[in-house]
Amino acid sequence: MIQDEIRKLKEEQGAVILAHNYQIPEVQEIADFVGDSLELAIKAKEATADVLVFCGVEFMAETAKILNPSRKVLLPVKNAGCPLADCLTPEMVREAKARHPNAAVVLYVNSTIESKAEADITCTSANAVEVVESLAEKTVLFGPDANLAHYVAEQVSGKTIIPLPADGHCPVHREYTLADVEAAHARGDAVVCHPECDPEVQEASDLVASTGGMARQAHLHQNWTVLTEEGMAYRLGRLFPDRTFHAVEGVVCEDMKRTTLEDVRRALETGEYEVTIDEEIADRARKAIERMIALRG
Ligand code: MLT
Repeated sequence: MIQDEIRKLKEEQGAVILAHNYQIPEVQEIADFVGDSLELAIKAKEATADVLVFCGVEFMAETAKILNPSRKVLLPVKNAGCPLADCLTPEMVREAKARHPNAAVVLYVNSTIESKAEADITCTSANAVEVVESLAEKTVLFGPDANLAHYVAEQVSGKTIIPLPADGHCPVHREYTLADVEAAHARGDAVVCHPECDPEVQEASDLVASTGGMARQAHLHQNWTVLTEEGMAYRLGRLFPDRTFHAVEGVVCEDMKRTTLEDVRRALETGEYEVTIDEEIADRARKAIERMIALRG
């Protein structure tokens, strides 16, 4: 069985497999650890294994490499990107900083390494509110997800949150509509949505949470509709087998779904694709990521 081959290769190479909550079920099952991007970043930083096989998308594997540069980090597929990350360039961040010189720059980890190098601090959907509240600055340039920026602005007081760019979004979370919330409520489900969903979806939902937050609060209801990439409904079902989690069919992140068991095996066999990063940019991005991680303490 391919799973046995992967386990053997993993042992031979001293590797661990980290997988995001949105990965396909087979990849979640073979992983040593499954989590959201904050949990995975912390795991990667603390990892003592020689090789980290990162089943997720590029910016997550880069974050792992930045936080633990002496490890070999492998991304099993080359073209697992993130359209949200790609909608913000470092030039856009520099221009915004020039326009708002007293503002702090908070970038979602779903951003390129070059943009992170321009940030004061990064955040994930799990800690965005905490990160913004930790800042002395009253004005915050927040990117690249405008819906997450809206969510943060609703949760914190005394700060002006400026989304950067004005309409950055995740194409997957934008697919959920009010009609999805209404259909879920009509069948008696509680609705949890990700803060990357549109504001009207957030307002109509019973709970807005990161995927880590969804796992922590799943005990609150028996039957849920989960408005985030469908991999999370699988993950929640594994964590809480006595509850039901409906996903909206067909709303998938193609980049997250690219990684297959064959890719994981090939990565371990060939060492492809190793994540390498420009040291100067990595050093600057590391400061912003480490500042976020330090808040956890
Ligand atoms: C992440 O942080 O991993 C993604 O935003 C999904 C989530 O966990 O909420």
